[in-house]
Amino acid sequence: MKGKLSLNMVTAATTMGSVKSAGLSLLLLSFLLYIADSYPNIDLSNMGCEECALRKNLVFSKERPVYQCVGCCFSRAYPTPLKAMKTMTIRKNITSEATCCVAKHSYEIEVNGIKVRNHTECHCSTCYYHKI
Ligand SMILES: *[C@@H]1O[C@H](CO)[C@@H](O)[C@H](O)[C@H]1NC(C)=O
Ligand SMILES: *[C@@H]1O[C@H](CO)[C@@H](O)[C@H](O)[C@H]1NC(C)=O
Repeated sequence: MKGKLSLNMVTAATTMGSVKSAGLSLLLLSFLLYIADSYPNIDLSNMGCEECALRKNLVFSKERPVYQCVGCCFSRAYPTPLKAMKTMTIRKNITSEATCCVAKHSYEIEVNGIKVRNHTECHCSTCYYHKI
């Protein structure tokens, strides 16, 4: 349970630039796992591609509903351009880019002594790294 809660704590932001790094596949994977973990009933054939929207967080919605942004935004993969390849520390010939569904507005609330953020508006933007 503790690990799952800390998924919601945004610890470090990445930029679109660093999205092209080797860390992306890991980042994307943990993000997808996070979705899969939070929404076990999701249609797997369509996984990660639901529209970016507010969804009720089942774990924290005890007395009052707590909302969080979940969804799929833009992502694509393409062969790494030669120019970009030279700047990479770990060279990969396939590059992927993505934006994530993140909160545009949110505020901190406390549920059973645990601080969580109640999201009020979502948009597709820079991916944030979720500490596991
Ligand atoms: C979270 O925000 C929604 C509105 O966006 C509100 O209805 C709900 O009561 C809030 N939940 C808590 C726990 O403050
Ligand atoms: C990636 O590049 C390596 C050489 O650096 C090559 O052997 C490999 O076939 C390439 N893979 C793809 C998918 O293009």
